[in-house]
Amino acid sequence: MSNVTRAQAAQETIVLTRSDKEVLERTKERSLEFRRLMSYYKCAMKEVETKFEVLDEEYSLQNDRNPISGIKSRLKSVSSIIEKMERKNLDLTVSAMEKNLNDVAGVRVVCSFVQDVYKLADALLIQDDVTLLQIKDYIKNPKPNGYRSLHLIVEIPIFLEKEKRMMKVEIQLRTIAMDCWASLEHQLRYKKGTEFTEEMQQALFKCAQNSMDLDEEMDLLRQKANI
Ligand code: GTP
Ligand code: MG
Repeated sequence: MSNVTRAQAAQETIVLTRSDKEVLERTKERSLEFRRLMSYYKCAMKEVETKFEVLDEEYSLQNDRNPISGIKSRLKSVSSIIEKMERKNLDLTVSAMEKNLNDVAGVRVVCSFVQDVYKLADALLIQDDVTLLQIKDYIKNPKPNGYRSLHLIVEIPIFLEKEKRMMKVEIQLRTIAMDCWASLEHQLRYKKGTEFTEEMQQALFKCAQNSMDLDEEMDLLRQKANI
């Protein structure tokens, strides 16, 4: 039998039972529920981005400089969501995802100076529609590998046609120097097929210290320049 006729024969033998149809129907509904939630996260991410853009605009008018060098946003990929939920032993349901994952929507704000990181975080957190759920200050307390950034988990409302929905967004604020280190460290650590040796880890830690020195020296210059 040729491949084409074999495929045709196989297709003809597929008869869906009532329970198969119910399963397919439920799968379709869940997929819709998932896509809807992902689009809400996307909206929340845009709200947060806009809030930072507004702050950047205001500061640049007041001080003739931009405290934000760049904003990068991302939605967590489906495979990363599944991998994290399995790792945390969670039921693979849309509601478990919404309840337990804080980083489906992520906004990274790269700032000019360390002082800008805290200034922007404070300005965001005093807004009356922003609720702080968690803060991790890896600038004051860097991770053992040298990683620095200020992490916030916030909840903000998005306004839909008939409802107001509260959504969680992970925000990472860091300087250009912190971002440079974290981006390169990520690339080095996740390079497939390369062993990440103790020596490499130590060299990266030294780079993290250099980046901290750079931030401190830049901050002294900022103070001298009175900006
Ligand atoms: P995740 O399960 O990875 O989300 O970690 P967590 O829930 O303990 O949160 P944490 O606030 O410690 O880190 C969240 C995110 O910060 C990560 O997904 C990375 O984007 C970033 N991050 C944390 N640690 C490091 C690090 O050592 N190197 C780099 N490059 N990024 C890091
Ligand atoms: Mg994460």
